[in-house]
Amino acid sequence: MARDTIGQTLLVATVLCVVCSVLVASAAVGLRSRQEANKQLDQMKNVLIAAGLFDKKENSADEVNEIFEASIERVLIDLESGAEADSSQVNAETYDQREAARDPKLSQTIESAAELGGIKRREKYSFVYRVKGESGEIEKVVLPIYGKGLWSTVYGFLAVGVDASTVEGITFYEHGETPGLGGEIENPAWTALWKGKTVFNDSGEVVLEVVKGSVNPESAAADHQVDGLSGATITSKGVSQLVHYWMGPHGFGPFLDLLRQSAGGGTSG
Ligand SMILES: Cc1cc2nc3c(=O)[nH]c(=O)nc-3n(C[C@H](O)[C@H](O)[C@H](O)COP(=O)(O)O)c2cc1C
Repeated sequence: MARDTIGQTLLVATVLCVVCSVLVASAAVGLRSRQEANKQLDQMKNVLIAAGLFDKKENSADEVNEIFEASIERVLIDLESGAEADSSQVNAETYDQREAARDPKLSQTIESAAELGGIKRREKYSFVYRVKGESGEIEKVVLPIYGKGLWSTVYGFLAVGVDASTVEGITFYEHGETPGLGGEIENPAWTALWKGKTVFNDSGEVVLEVVKGSVNPESAAADHQVDGLSGATITSKGVSQLVHYWMGPHGFGPFLDLLRQSAGGGTSG
């Protein structure tokens, strides 16, 4: 039988396509759970980095799990009240925060879209991570933050002390900014500049910001300013804006008020 006919060529091409697509589809499905697990591990690692409890870039799943278990308590809060979410309204075990931001039932419009760089909706409930000391007292909290940079939505975590204002650490773990420019938000040398800065002024306004150029250490504003990223003014502005939103009254403001009150009252709840 002749093998170099058009029919034979088409048959071989079709069989090859079917076999390849089955292989690709099964790999995608088979690896999905591992991808999810890696994503979760990456989030846990970044919570620990923001909290100053972990500084290695490479993955060490056992170590991350161990430190996370020992020192972090993840709590789902209602952003509007700042209190723990009512479990009859939302299940913290199955809650997907990114999905929720797109779900009309679990999200709300942002009053002025410019507040968060053009993002129009935000989720009603957010996870927060309490960082506990050896005797179980809350030492700091880690808050998930996100907003628009130049090209992308940037995602990170910001840790503050129990005064609800002193920055304990910040990390950005997902973005599509240009490596070497906006992508420098990931650079540990830059994120280290945030530690010790204050979020609020004496009147309770959010004043923490990324400036253009370098901070003048002599300036009275230096304790709430961070050096800008050179060649990345738009990403820097985006970071200022997202910090302003999430630490303000429409973001974690109510939660931070409660944290301040409980720290002032000498309790750890
Ligand atoms: C290829 C390319 C990639 C860029 N990536 C970024 C970026 O990730 N973030 C950013 O703020 N600006 C980026 N810019 C620069 C902006 O277009 C803009 O010029 C810059 O934000 C101005 O910052 P400067 O005042 O610090 O120079 C990029 C420019 C080019 C040409």
